[in-house]
Amino acid sequence: MISVLVIDNYEDLSLYREKLGDKRIGFVPTMGALHRGHLHLAETSIKHCDATVVSIWVNPRQFNDKEDFEKYPRNFDEDIKKLRKVGVDVVFIPKSEEELYKANRLKQEARDLKGLDKPLEGMFRTGHFEAVVEVVYRLFCTVKPSVAYFGKKDFQQFRIIEHFTNSNDLGIEIIGLETIREESGLAMSSRNERLNQQERAAAAGIYKTLSWIKNSWNDKHKSPEEIKEEAANQLLAIPGLKSIDYLEIVNEEDLNPVKNGSSNTARAFIAVYLGPVRLIDNLSLNN
Ligand code: PAJ
Repeated sequence: MISVLVIDNYEDLSLYREKLGDKRIGFVPTMGALHRGHLHLAETSIKHCDATVVSIWVNPRQFNDKEDFEKYPRNFDEDIKKLRKVGVDVVFIPKSEEELYKANRLKQEARDLKGLDKPLEGMFRTGHFEAVVEVVYRLFCTVKPSVAYFGKKDFQQFRIIEHFTNSNDLGIEIIGLETIREESGLAMSSRNERLNQQERAAAAGIYKTLSWIKNSWNDKHKSPEEIKEEAANQLLAIPGLKSIDYLEIVNEEDLNPVKNGSSNTARAFIAVYLGPVRLIDNLSLNN
């Protein structure tokens, strides 16, 4: 099997990075508990870059709920095996937060997120995106990638990082890749591990509802309000579904609600509690 370098500190990573010079470095930041969604990002990077670095850091600062942080699945040995198998060059698993804060900043960066952090997740997770931007920026300063890959499963996160990186001219290409789903349509997520068998089967209803929204949207017979109301009823009929945090149809660019069916950059977003687990998903409404 191909070998993978596991690095847990800033100094070793810097040495490795220096040796690579101006080669094309692909980077995939993760919080571990890796599934096919994460591996798809890594594989894409491997295909297009000279070297691929994957980081694993369960960032305590971006969790709003202590229990969610504590129960977040961690299985680093399994993760390393999976990354070795797909052919990743380096896995960076900082041994402490300190290792993340040693790098010099790439720029005196500006933090104006242009309100992208306010709707959707921002309504329910105060400070979450500030913490995500902080940790991703620190990782960028350490890894100094040419290109970084993010999943559209977390579309708002992808848009925010894309905006932050471009508006600060960090010189890193941000690429968003489509959501990888289970056969049932359920978006792969590390949190799915906390669902029991019935909940997992029921969770497929989230994607069914998103697909229904997409069809209804393209039918053009219903207003966004009518579509959202009917979709909310479908979600509430999912066995085990406890509550809906949001169900929105927004413009992909600025994440503001779309008022009529003519937008060609509309995307539907859903966040629900199924049993004890909060699940999010989204789908582009354009063909
Ligand atoms: P994590 O949830 O581990 O996700 C790491 C990357 O994998 C993110 O870009 C996420 O969007 C992507 N991803 C997750 N599930 C996916 C799926 N089913 N299909 C495609 N991509 C998927 O997102 C984070 O970690 C953190 O916020 C992080 C960016 C690492 C900062 O701490």
